[in-house]
Amino acid sequence: MFQTNLIQVMNKETKQEEFSALEAELRALILPQDGLISNMANFCAALYSRFDFLWVGFYMIDEGQLRLGPFQGPVACTRIAKGKGVCGSAWSLKETVVANDVHKFPGHIACSADSNSEIVLPLLVDNEVKGVLDIDSTAFGYFDEIDQECLENIVKWFASVVY
Ligand code: SME
Repeated sequence: MFQTNLIQVMNKETKQEEFSALEAELRALILPQDGLISNMANFCAALYSRFDFLWVGFYMIDEGQLRLGPFQGPVACTRIAKGKGVCGSAWSLKETVVANDVHKFPGHIACSADSNSEIVLPLLVDNEVKGVLDIDSTAFGYFDEIDQECLENIVKWFASVVY
């Protein structure tokens, strides 16, 4: 916990640089011809390698539910209903949802006991949600406005390439 919080403080200054480097890495890595699953898998690996996240992964809409897609981190629940948990809320609202303390988020779905904060971003194509990107941290309040803005830009670009 101490180490995670220390990294969080250090990253405040370098976060934007890390996100710029990540974006450059992803632009070289994510290619439309490689298909959705391969691109999602490498997207997760790139984020997971660069930041000290507990879990990074996608849920994709399938038969009216969110279904687990490519991810990095501990095993996770496979299906989430619309409006349920942080992921289902981001789907319903069609916007980013940040839970600074997941234990206080109504209906939060606990896949890992080690998760304390979370950000979920919808993948939007023509205002339709195709899936969500979910990121968990062991630190409380990890995701600040820099994370949200940078991740929203990256996810918007990613959706435009893969869908
Ligand atoms: N906590 C999420 C469920 C997915 S896991 O965190 C991987 C939620 O409340 O929707």
